[in-house]
Amino acid sequence: MALNFLLTEFFRLEGKVALLTGAASGIGEQTARLFTENGARVVVADVQDEMGLQVVESIGTERASYLHCDVRDEKQVEEAVSFTINKYGSLDVLFSNAGIIGPLTSILELDLDGFNNTMATNVRGVAATIKHAARAMVARNIRGSIICTTSVASLLGGTGPSAYTTSKHALVGLVRSACSELGEYGIRVNSVSPFGVATPLACTAYNLRPNEVEENSCGLANLKGVVLKARHVAEAALFLASDESAYISGHNLAVDGGYAVVARSSY
Ligand SMILES: NC(=O)c1ccc[n+]([C@@H]2O[C@H](COP(=O)([O-])OP(=O)(O)OC[C@H]3O[C@@H](n4cnc5c(N)ncnc54)[C@H](O)[C@@H]3O)[C@@H](O)[C@H]2O)c1
Repeated sequence: MALNFLLTEFFRLEGKVALLTGAASGIGEQTARLFTENGARVVVADVQDEMGLQVVESIGTERASYLHCDVRDEKQVEEAVSFTINKYGSLDVLFSNAGIIGPLTSILELDLDGFNNTMATNVRGVAATIKHAARAMVARNIRGSIICTTSVASLLGGTGPSAYTTSKHALVGLVRSACSELGEYGIRVNSVSPFGVATPLACTAYNLRPNEVEENSCGLANLKGVVLKARHVAEAALFLASDESAYISGHNLAVDGGYAVVARSSY
């Protein structure tokens, strides 16, 4: 009994199994590391195989496995869920995090093929992961936790290109809808909504080095004196994955230092 208490106190996901998409890099990678540090076994799913395999090697193959999964392909998503169950015997947490920023064009120059690809990854892909993970949870009576990665662009216009902003707003609707349908099975569905983090997504899109992305974010930030890191977003995902958030569902948890609720004024 005392040992059980200690395990859950210090290892907040002890005994849990998590599937994480987009986990070869950035926020997903840091979350996979933090989940395993807290006792979980994880499946790292991504399209960047070499990087995904390196993440798993450095975590340790007794706690982590890699699987190629393009979330735009429903069959691959279904296989990722089956792989997780077959490998570790459960699926308690889904971190549906894979996403792209897409072309940085204005609405006046909108490339509709690019728009479709952003929606296919950021919305359709997440919908596929929720569908198959939730089916597996319901079939096994698992009171699971599903967490998606939105963005401050799910709360505000003007913080990203229009397809990206549209996709992240849609994701909030998907989270709320899944929350309403899955509550009766004891499954919670939430999201984390980060401000700008210096990951490859942000660095590549804006052609900036990590320190330049961080300088930009710090300059625009509401909360001063903290540099937002992928680890801060992972900490929020850990809270939503753990039993500490047992009655929280349908929530879009902003990890933005208050950015989305503060308007600048000149006084
Ligand atoms: N970095 C930021 O400033 C920021 C801010 C808000 C939200 N986000 C969101 O965070 C999430 C993670 O992004 P990140 O910043 O860590 O970037 P990242 O580029 O480091 O990681 C994204 C990962 O998703 C993977 N991915 C892309 N398309 C995929 C697909 N079709 N199937 C499977 N995997 C795919 C990539 O290979 C990559 O490993 C995204 O949803 C992004 O929109 C990022």
